[in-house]
Amino acid sequence: MNKPLLIGSGNRSKARELAELLVALPWTVQSLADLPPTPAPEETGQTFEENAVLKARYYSNHFGMPCIADDSGLVVDALDGAPGVHSARYAGDYGNDEKNNEHLLEALQEVSWHERTARFVCCAVFLAPDGEPHIEHGAVEGHIAMEPFGDAGFGYDPLFVPVGHSRTFGEMSAEEKHGMSHRGQAIAKLCAFLQGLQADKA
Ligand code: IMP
Repeated sequence: MNKPLLIGSGNRSKARELAELLVALPWTVQSLADLPPTPAPEETGQTFEENAVLKARYYSNHFGMPCIADDSGLVVDALDGAPGVHSARYAGDYGNDEKNNEHLLEALQEVSWHERTARFVCCAVFLAPDGEPHIEHGAVEGHIAMEPFGDAGFGYDPLFVPVGHSRTFGEMSAEEKHGMSHRGQAIAKLCAFLQGLQADKA
């Protein structure tokens, strides 16, 4: 029987993306929605890596199963790296995508297209209970649009135009986004690591 693998994210949109990206793995993926409710851990880390490890450790220990968690966000050069690790609560309330996008557009009101450079970054962690974290990173460069386009994806997707493209992530299919996204890159590396683990044990 396949081993269980928990997706340690209370953000349903992110958990859905992680499940899509892990579909080829010979593990039985479970999300927090399949399990008894538990409060989310406080993200007290100063870096994406600290927060990703903190979340993976919390959920892995709580449910006693191997877990994948990610911490991710948007880094905008003209804002000295903001919203960064505070991306989910940039406008105050946790996970209010619409307000976060409005807040970002306001902050960049005076900034021209050429100076609106930004990147999505993702730190993804695999951790078995009482084990050592395995950490991978991914990043995708782009620009912040002058207004939102599209309603696919989540978070800042309607404002993010990846380099080499003229559409935002909000206007792309999930497959197209996953093929270039920060999360797609980090999880592809984690999948390669997990497939190696599986092969070692075979
Ligand atoms: P986390 O759950 O603390 O990692 O928060 C990540 C936040 O960064 C999300 O709530 C979004 O605001 C933003 N974010 C991360 N990845 C993406 C993405 O793929 N698309 C759009 N926004 C993202």
